[in-house]
Amino acid sequence: MAAAERVVVDRATKVYNAGALNVFSELRMSVHDRETLCVLGPSGCGKTTLLRAMHGLIGLDEGRIVIDGLEVKRPRRDVAMVFQHFGLMPWKRVRENVAYGLELAGFSRADVDQRARKYIDLVGLSGFERAFPHELSGGMQQRVGLARALAMEPDILLMDEPFGSLDAQTREILQDELLRIYQQHPRTMVFITHSIEEAIALGDRIVVLTARPARVRETLTVDIPRPRTVAGVIAHPRFLELRDRCWHLLRERTTA
Ligand SMILES: Nc1ncnc2c1ncn2[C@@H]1O[C@H](COP(=O)(O)OP(=O)(O)OP(=O)(O)O)[C@@H](O)[C@H]1O
Ligand SMILES: [Mg+2]
Repeated sequence: MAAAERVVVDRATKVYNAGALNVFSELRMSVHDRETLCVLGPSGCGKTTLLRAMHGLIGLDEGRIVIDGLEVKRPRRDVAMVFQHFGLMPWKRVRENVAYGLELAGFSRADVDQRARKYIDLVGLSGFERAFPHELSGGMQQRVGLARALAMEPDILLMDEPFGSLDAQTREILQDELLRIYQQHPRTMVFITHSIEEAIALGDRIVVLTARPARVRETLTVDIPRPRTVAGVIAHPRFLELRDRCWHLLRERTTA
């Protein structure tokens, strides 16, 4: 039996500037339970817009997004997002940044403490609890963003190019950490990226979008078994074929 659909994007249409800018129209895709769906697409095609709509931060003009049978109207406690540009509060320390969402959600002090400690440790930031974001490297700031989202123990995690601004080495370390965290506790994830390699390493399926107005050009299944590591995926015989296919689809778009 096919896995249950957790997130359904149903003929979603979004325009800006009173209709002058058509970001996507009649977009359809779905995310299955406990799968990582990676979304690849050219810059400006509407990936962040789509993710914000999934999170209920912005509305659609037509169509709808349904999570667990309910149309998305506003952010839900069981869905968390990691933003493209960290989205940290610069005036708050690491621990306060991680704890903030938990406090807002009304967790007890003991639970907030316990979870903040657990997730700061999980992303490798123990010892930096009292640091301010500006005292951290970009990779460390992104780990804070990840810890903040994971601490909510969301059922569904929306990731907007969370590793996009990192150097290649830090990026691979965090990709491996995410694979490890996923292995411990599989979650439903939507992961936006510009990197074909990253999409293959992390994804169970990959949706390739066209340029604006975005539509789904193709959906690929990443038939590389888990548990995975980035190095293991790159060495896998399927890797090159998948990479070439994604390249082809993205290049086709630019020359069309
Ligand atoms: N609030 C807004 N008002 C007007 N136009 C917007 C708004 N937000 C996004 N856009 C436009 O919508 C389009 C899609 O933007 P979006 O940020 O979703 O792209 P993206 O695929 O995430 O790009 P990138 O890969 O560079 O992050 C862009 O043309 C952008 O200028
Ligand atoms: Mg974006």
